[in-house]
Order: sequence, then structure tokens, then C-alpha cells
Amino acid sequence: MRIVAFHNIKGGVGKTAAAVNIAYLASESGIPTLLWDLDPQGAASWYLGETPDVSGEKASRLLKGKTPIGKLIHATAYPKLDLIPAHSSFRNLDVKLAESDSGKALKSWLSPLSEDYGLVILDCPPSLSHLAEQILDAADKVFVPTIPTWLSINSWQQLHDFVKEKKLKPGKLHPFLSMVDRRKNLHRTMLENGGEGLKNRLRGYIPYASDIERMGETRQPVSVVSPRSAAAHAYRLLWKEVKLASRL
Ligand SMILES: Nc1ncnc2c1ncn2[C@@H]1O[C@H](COP(=O)(O)OP(=O)(O)OP(=O)(O)O)[C@@H](O)[C@H]1O
Ligand SMILES: [Mg+2]
Repeated sequence: MRIVAFHNIKGGVGKTAAAVNIAYLASESGIPTLLWDLDPQGAASWYLGETPDVSGEKASRLLKGKTPIGKLIHATAYPKLDLIPAHSSFRNLDVKLAESDSGKALKSWLSPLSEDYGLVILDCPPSLSHLAEQILDAADKVFVPTIPTWLSINSWQQLHDFVKEKKLKPGKLHPFLSMVDRRKNLHRTMLENGGEGLKNRLRGYIPYASDIERMGETRQPVSVVSPRSAAAHAYRLLWKEVKLASRL
């Protein structure tokens, strides 16, 4: 089982859109896939037509070891794609993780899933929190959607430095350009010159596309709604690279 995260310390860069679309493509290719919506805002759950889990088991029970992770898993409308929906108690997850001593809680929750899944995708809230640290530790690969602006490159650098500082493996970080608007000079330049300092960058990129913007309305992956669109094509190319980089 491989664990892959979509993370960036910046918000609104296309983490969730990528996590959902890549999770769908992985499941469609035959890999039993679990998407864990770790952001209490619940966007990944929403994009898959699910609602945040209000009645289910609380994350705090998971933390105390009173609930196995399996109890949080829901089937989705797609074969081979399951979801752990966002839960309001995930809001406290960071504080709870800070209180727990091992620093490996997330990793230990994930390990029993290897019997059922070939791939777990973590959709992460934007931060450099305790949760982020555990995600960066537990994941085999971390894909970092990055909008082609100088500030975004700074954020990438901060994430890279954080990973080094925590003695995790910076080699597991792979940025890719997201929300690329080829009408903008800077976007074109960064796309063409290799993205200035984005080490390990994937070649695939996600264009700014109304099909992706509309996911909040359609609540389905773009490959389902508009399989021939430029956005669906871009996610398919990205998936090929994610698969290769993650040795799936
Ligand atoms: N490539 C794209 N083209 C156009 N709109 C996009 C694209 N990617 C994401 N969006 C839109 O931008 C908004 C933010 O996207 P998304 O939720 O995927 O970002 P995020 O990084 O997960 O945000 P957050 O940090 O809040 O979790 C959403 O409304 C989404 O529909
Ligand atoms: Mg998100």
C-alpha cells in the first residue's frame, strides 16, 4: 500500500481538486483506493457528492484507540474508491496530535489499511501543523500543487525547509504547477523554464479550467463529467507521473 498526500502550506491552490481527481483515476485503473479528507472544511467529501460525517465516529475516539479506522470509511459512488469523509472533530486533530506523544499516530492508523487498499490519498488542510508533520512523515510521496507566482515558490521553499528541518525526506516532495493560465507571462515563463527552483517538479501541470472550477457544482471528478476536456487530460497525465513516482 502506498500513501500519497496532496499538500501545500498555501490555501486554495488546487490540492483538493487534484486529490479527488487523482483518487478517482487511481480507482478507475483498478487500484483499490481510499481518499481521506483530513480538512474539516470537507471539500473533498463535497466534490465526491458526500457530506461531512456528522453522526459517525469521532476522531478523538480514533486517537484514544477506541475506534478502528475502518469504522470511519464510507463507500463512494465509484467502484474501488472509498472515502473517509471530513469530520468536524478533525478540527481538534492538530491539538490532539500535539498532545499525543508518539508523533506516529497517523502512520499507525493507516497501517491496518494495507490489507484492503493499494493506495491511500490524504487531502490535507493548508498549514505547517502537527498534523502536517505527521502527514509529511507518513506519506511515501507528497505532491505539492503550486501556482506559478513568486510567492508560491516561497511557500514551496518553506515546505521544503520544514521537511529538512524535521529530518524527513525532502526527496519525497514533488511540486507540480497548478491553475496555470497560459495567457499570463509569468505562468508561461515558469512553465517553460522548469519552474525556477521547484526541485523534483513533475512535468505535468493543471491548467486553470472552468471544468475544475465547476466541481463544486457537479460534485464529480472531471473525468466523469467531461472526459474529453483539457482538464481531464491534464489529470490523466498527472496521474501517470504520480503512479510512476509512487511506484504503483
Ligand atoms: N485548475 C483549476 N482551475 C480553476 N479552478 C480551480 C482549479 N483548481 C482548483 N480550482 C478551484 O479553486 C478553488 C480551490 O481549489 P481547491 O479546493 O482544490 O484548493 P485547495 O488547495 O484544496 O484549497 P484549501 O487550501 O482551501 O483546502 C475551488 O473553488 C476549485 O474549484
Ligand atoms: Mg483543500
